[in-house]
Amino acid sequence: MTFINTTFKALPYRSCISTDAVRMHPAAATMTIADNLASAHDIPDSADPLMALLHEGGLRPLRLGGRTLLPIVQGGMGVGVSAHRLAGSVAALGAMGTISSVDLRRHHPDLMERTRDLAPGAAATSRAKQDINAANLEALAREIRAARRCAGGRGLLAINVMRAVGEYAPSVTRALECGIDAVVVGAGLPLDLPELAQDHPDALLVPILSDARGVQLLVRKWERKRRLPDAIVIEHPRLAGGHLGAGKIADLADPRFDFENVIPQSLAFLRAAGIEKEIPLIAAGGIRRFEDIARVQALGAAAVQLGTPFAVTQECDAHPEFKRMLAEARDEDLVEFTSVAGLPARAVATRWLKGYLKAEAKLQGVAHVKPRCTLAFDCLAQCGLRDGLATWGQFCIDTQLAAALRGDVKRGLFFRGVGALPFGDQVRSVRELLARLLTRYEDSAPTPGVTAA
Ligand SMILES: Cc1cc2nc3c(=O)[nH]c(=O)nc-3n(C[C@H](O)[C@H](O)[C@H](O)COP(=O)(O)O)c2cc1C
Repeated sequence: MTFINTTFKALPYRSCISTDAVRMHPAAATMTIADNLASAHDIPDSADPLMALLHEGGLRPLRLGGRTLLPIVQGGMGVGVSAHRLAGSVAALGAMGTISSVDLRRHHPDLMERTRDLAPGAAATSRAKQDINAANLEALAREIRAARRCAGGRGLLAINVMRAVGEYAPSVTRALECGIDAVVVGAGLPLDLPELAQDHPDALLVPILSDARGVQLLVRKWERKRRLPDAIVIEHPRLAGGHLGAGKIADLADPRFDFENVIPQSLAFLRAAGIEKEIPLIAAGGIRRFEDIARVQALGAAAVQLGTPFAVTQECDAHPEFKRMLAEARDEDLVEFTSVAGLPARAVATRWLKGYLKAEAKLQGVAHVKPRCTLAFDCLAQCGLRDGLATWGQFCIDTQLAAALRGDVKRGLFFRGVGALPFGDQVRSVRELLARLLTRYEDSAPTPGVTAA
């Protein structure tokens, strides 16, 4: 590949290691702090060289909440994959960084210790749930504080809360009280978000949707509440990692999700409603290089959101083995399945996932309502395992995602999006990733599959 643009220079750095948010699960804490120091987790003092790259490449900036940002959003990734270090690092470079709200206590050994013995015994259940949820809200506040320090007022900081999680409303409220810039909600229609955020009129509200019908429905419902989304993430279920916005696996490749369809259709609706300029669209799923960004901007998108490429950066808050698993996986190693949240999901077909899928029909055949959640805190509002929903997944998602976070390649569930990553199987810094995405290469074409199937 020929590197046309050579203006990106080394910058002065400052470190961004939090003092109050100790990293990771206790089992991995030693490694992670060492990893923090070894990778130096460096952040440039100025985001300007990236803006210069943006202008040279001819991509448009993202204008959001009165700010001019790089048109690149780091998507929220649970459990704990995008916490303060990743989100703060991305924001510090002038883009939008997103903390995932789910079970953040796993990054705080003191909070894990405090909740460790809350075994889900019948009498202890409601108390255990209350204490674990309180610990998670405390962790959320700590992570937001640390990310804000890290970002130093640059870029934009968001919290991602899945609509499907039990603590959706308290998490949104706590994040807003902590002064988060934006709330991003996926995995369900956040029709009640305007009410939840009514005391915080300056906070940006960003739903994640997948087709033009969803955009129309949500905007119409929000309009009645006198609120419009500040941006909308359009996530392609055939390409993205994690939970996917389609009803079932068979629908993932439906052309109505293709960026070529959903972006112009959504813009046409917004234009007809007279609000096109006010709501930037952010395309997510399988975005891997400059040409992918140029292509969706040509369709009318304002920006892109990436998950997997940010998950394999040095600054990502997960264990190095988590990053290795994602970086080394190829498209043929990925599998789609139905999660315990009842939604299709895409992940690396690890030993655990292959074994689970082999046993899935049997497990679904004996699905029944359990007296309590495996981990006592009911992470999901509706859970296929706990609630005995026979067509939904039958595993404890928090247990599996937490295993992935701490690098347990045997037991973990490793969500991943489709497509070869910008640096192949290498783990690089956020700065390098952003620079690469903003740079046009002479002989590269858009990532196959990013546009129509
Ligand atoms: C490991 C991982 C965890 C994710 N967790 C969440 C999540 O908690 N909430 C959410 O809305 N999206 C989640 N996503 C989706 C990302 O935010 C992003 O939209 C998506 O990954 C984009 O596709 P890409 O991975 O192909 O870039 C996750 C994705 C990955 C890879």
